Amino acid sequence: MEIIKDISQMQKTANTLKKEGKSIGFVPTMGFLHAGHLSLIEAARRECQTLVVSIFVNPLQFGAHDDFNTYPRDLTHDSQLAGKSGVDILFIPDAEHIYPGGYQTQVAVPGLSENLCGRFRIGHFQGVTTVVCKLFHIVKPDIAYFGQKDYQQLIVINKMVADLNMEVQIKGLPIVRQKDGLAMSSRNAYLNERERKAAHCLYNSLCRAKQMKEEGITQCSKIISAIRDIISAEPMARPEYIRICHPETLQDIEYIEDRALLAMAVHIGKTRLIDNCFL
Ligand code: PAF
Repeated sequence: MEIIKDISQMQKTANTLKKEGKSIGFVPTMGFLHAGHLSLIEAARRECQTLVVSIFVNPLQFGAHDDFNTYPRDLTHDSQLAGKSGVDILFIPDAEHIYPGGYQTQVAVPGLSENLCGRFRIGHFQGVTTVVCKLFHIVKPDIAYFGQKDYQQLIVINKMVADLNMEVQIKGLPIVRQKDGLAMSSRNAYLNERERKAAHCLYNSLCRAKQMKEEGITQCSKIISAIRDIISAEPMARPEYIRICHPETLQDIEYIEDRALLAMAVHIGKTRLIDNCFL
């Protein structure tokens, strides 16, 4: 596995791969790799001739009170895991090269960034689309892979790619869960033992919602109120939002007619967790 830190070296390598006709699969990450990332890496390995993984904790997508400084980082472990997983190139740029002094340009998808997490994390998605757009220009992937746990991120990136005629195919892969249902996330590392148990209320409530839908309940307010009850019963949990929306427009819906997205953000102690499922 080759480790590249320099942006122009990554661009030159990508150009050479293109000339040789080799397809590039790309998994952008913020590191602290877990089974969720590995599922993206495995898919990219199967489907593309060259596999590039980036590790960059993007300051632009963290708010002033977010966890940028404490975000878990372990480059040694990440490089070992990437090497073992068949990654060809690990791209680890520095923040001062991605955003040099005087950097100004931002990419935004305002409409789809408004609801769900966007209401609470002002500027977050603009930070994501800006860095992903830059990474796409540097790595020049044919296919880029994202997890559906960050469903809104996936939809926003799809829209950016469509609106800006970017020649990259976006693939969203299913959420990978731990045995008890907790969605894999680098932020799970923040949870202590009691919080880890409390975090189970997210998955429990998704299961209850699915069950209600199967019983024929389609009124979103009823499902949301049942979920709120499950989460409120857990003293360590504080819901930030629980919404049922259209999976493409991300607009709230009153009744489930076709496929709907149930999405939530819940604070467990100081840790903010998100999860979602289709109903
Ligand atoms: O999902 C993430 O880890 C990040 O938001 C991403 C896509 C790597 C952009 O920084």
